[in-house]
Amino acid sequence: MEEGLEFCGTGRAVPEHILTNEDLCGMVETSDEWIQARTGIRERHICQGETLTDLTVLAARRAMEMAGISADQVGLCIVATITPHCATPSQACLVHEQLGLAQDCPAFDLNAGCTGFLYGLETMAALLPRQRRPYGLLIGGDVLSRVVDWTDRNTCVLFGDGAGAAVLAPSKAPWTCHLHTQGDGNIIWAHGLSLGQSAIHMEGQAVYRFAVETVPKCAMELAQQAQLPLEEVDWFVLHQANCRIVEAAARQMHQPKEKFYLNMQHYGNTSAASIPIALDEMNRAGMLKKGQKILSVGFGAGLTWGGALFTW
Ligand code: UT7
Repeated sequence: MEEGLEFCGTGRAVPEHILTNEDLCGMVETSDEWIQARTGIRERHICQGETLTDLTVLAARRAMEMAGISADQVGLCIVATITPHCATPSQACLVHEQLGLAQDCPAFDLNAGCTGFLYGLETMAALLPRQRRPYGLLIGGDVLSRVVDWTDRNTCVLFGDGAGAAVLAPSKAPWTCHLHTQGDGNIIWAHGLSLGQSAIHMEGQAVYRFAVETVPKCAMELAQQAQLPLEEVDWFVLHQANCRIVEAAARQMHQPKEKFYLNMQHYGNTSAASIPIALDEMNRAGMLKKGQKILSVGFGAGLTWGGALFTW
């Protein structure tokens, strides 16, 4: 068991515009029935004028407001994203500027696809205790609508835009985290600046099989290492890509579906934002009580996957 983090505040921000499955039927050959049956998604928020900077800054402000902290108390700022507003400065530097964070508060981006928030948590747990100010700001945000091919029905129905943030402090409460990578450039990719082809491509079935295999395994390994029976986990907060993946994980883990939070019906797959958006929704709805055990697992491009088991 390593030293970990306490969540002091959470926040989220999504664009105003909602794109429904019906709207998509006018853009590609698809149906509300197909999208809901295969993924559970009904609608997603899509940027129309907002930028990732707007979303990440707003989510961060909301988390800081909930935590009751000011900019000069933030000692580390990390943004997990694969769609930064520009190649440089990093998204975290843009957030740093807008929030007026201190010069001794390092700020950098972390690219681990949809697992970015989990990678960010473990990075924060390692680095935050070494900084000069007490709180860490971790944001997961993506604007995948910018890199989606809106004529490709295999991908365009899946994704949405958003950002979620957490204010974190070092904690002695039990903390277990596992991160994994299986480098593979042929399953999910978006070449972006490097090769001039920006659209996201995904071998959907391969990702599905990878997720169904790795997510429950990762969750069970975490619980085993923490010596906590799965029955004693209060909430499972998995990456929100597809409700069938979450249901398959619940079955393999022999845990009731009710313990698995689901919100992809309203947001689609928001990549690095999906887990912090879910945590913020649960937090603001009063679902997360102090002392509860939360097990979160993410998976996605890289391929990356990983999880954290922590106390709320
Ligand atoms: O965050 C990154 C992680 N990404 C994921 O977790 C995605 C994981 N993969 C999935 O969630 C699923 O594989 C998808 C939802 C992407 C696809 O579901 P599937 O059950 O694996 O469908 P499929 O790709 O096998 O396609 C079945 C059929 C195909 O038609 P034929 O060849 O059987 O005639 C597709 O062309 O469905 C067709 N299809 C569609 N039909 C209507 C594919 N996309 C659509 C669509 N509307 N949007």
